[in-house]
Amino acid sequence: MSMTVLSVASEAAGLVKTGGLADVAGALPAALAAQGVAVTTFVPGYPAVLAKLGKKPRAVHKWDALLGVPARLLTGKLGDQPVLVLDAPALFGREGGPYADPSGRDWDDNWHRFAAFARAAADIAGGTVKGRSFDLVHAHDWQAGLVPAYLRLAPFAGGRAVPSVMTIHNMAFQGYYPAEVFPKLGLPPEAWTVDGVESYGGVGFLKAGMQLADAITTVSPTYAGEIRSVEFGMGLEGIVLARSNRVHGILNGIDTAEWNPATDPHLAANYTATTLAVRRKNKRAIEQAFGLDRSDGPLFVVVTRLTWQKGMDVLAGVMDHLAGIGARLALLGSGDAEIEQAFLAAATRHPGRIGVKIGYDEALSHRLQAGGDAILIPSRFEPCGLTQLYGLAYGCVPVVARTGGLADTVIDANPAALSAGVATGIQMNAVSHNALAMAVSRAVDLYHRPAEWKRLQKNGMKADFSWGASGAAYAALYRQLIEEQA
Ligand code: ADP
Ligand code: GLC
Repeated sequence: MSMTVLSVASEAAGLVKTGGLADVAGALPAALAAQGVAVTTFVPGYPAVLAKLGKKPRAVHKWDALLGVPARLLTGKLGDQPVLVLDAPALFGREGGPYADPSGRDWDDNWHRFAAFARAAADIAGGTVKGRSFDLVHAHDWQAGLVPAYLRLAPFAGGRAVPSVMTIHNMAFQGYYPAEVFPKLGLPPEAWTVDGVESYGGVGFLKAGMQLADAITTVSPTYAGEIRSVEFGMGLEGIVLARSNRVHGILNGIDTAEWNPATDPHLAANYTATTLAVRRKNKRAIEQAFGLDRSDGPLFVVVTRLTWQKGMDVLAGVMDHLAGIGARLALLGSGDAEIEQAFLAAATRHPGRIGVKIGYDEALSHRLQAGGDAILIPSRFEPCGLTQLYGLAYGCVPVVARTGGLADTVIDANPAALSAGVATGIQMNAVSHNALAMAVSRAVDLYHRPAEWKRLQKNGMKADFSWGASGAAYAALYRQLIEEQA
């Protein structure tokens, strides 16, 4: 059975990206095409997205008042996959990030921006645009959380009913707003209940999606289990438990066309698992770019948002230990000002050993995976995590916290795994100063056993993290929901 799916996401790599959601939304269409599913991606028309549509994009629909503002629906392409873009200048035509102003403050009207986005998605799925119909809607994260609510509680008049999937990429971001916004959402009064969009006295966008979608997925099996607990469920564990027969953990894949060291155009030198020695050239390029001395010790890298989730406050405290045992670090990231300052201070204390670039740089993120010996990912929680997967594919050994998708994808180099020859990285039990310092020390020791280190690299590079199995899992879920609806 061939299926058509509308994938609704606030970012998609190639158009706009702030993190892993974009990688996944960007990769899903190709992953699912291989399964006989035709995916159209729907994104908001931020200036950066509109710029990529070319001079005269085609408008296929107009709203005079989409939750009160005029809007148009534009068509475009992402690679060879179809894209729909919501052009609503009052909501999205502004400088800054997708969610925040140029100073980093969340836009005050984010509820309005993403409610309108979700309303439009529900209209499209219901058939508002002639000639376009969809069998299912796949909503990503809180920005698309109201899509299942509109589909179910305020469907497009005369439209067809379609099932929906709500994917949680990160439970920490829930889109929670005060009760006053409820009357402005265009939902019927009966939506204001705990079985609808109400959440702890306010409106919960992600909560609404979890409550009203036909299935909930999250991006790794371990995280699917973790969000049943108070610690990881962050207030929504009750819904996860209540709907547990509808919750699925489907691991993210990686886009192997974008992330392949043999062909990656960003690298100083391309290589494969059988030409690992070539990585040295990429390492030299990193040393130069970050002002690091050459040394016999390993070069650790970090590519991340500098936040509490990622354990970066703890890592900053381990810098003196890392430099003290002969290792070096090249860090690319941006985020909390305090954490940025802590890394910059460490770089000042350890010139030639610790190099820090504050910012966001896609090309450099590829080069770091190709030139680093190991990538540090001490996350307190990690729904899936993609940088460890890129590390594995690039022979940059992941050193990770045992949580979420990190636990599911990295095999710790414990004695049993080493002697069986299956280890791919290093895991730590807790995100504490001592656990992280110990993990760094373990990595340094292993690095000085070159045969074992090389084995880790090769094991990671030959592991399959392409979308094959996960694409098939999504397709099977879609099929089941469509059949249930019929
Ligand atoms: P999250 O989505 O929680 O930030 P993921 O590991 O799933 O974590 O995805 C992060 C994505 O963003 C990866 O593609 C990573 O390479 C990229 N990334 C993170 N920080 C930076 C940065 N400073 N510069 C370039 N790419 C970055
Ligand atoms: C979120 C999570 C990350 C995951 C990504 C894509 O940003 O923090 O772990 O890999 O979404 O699913």
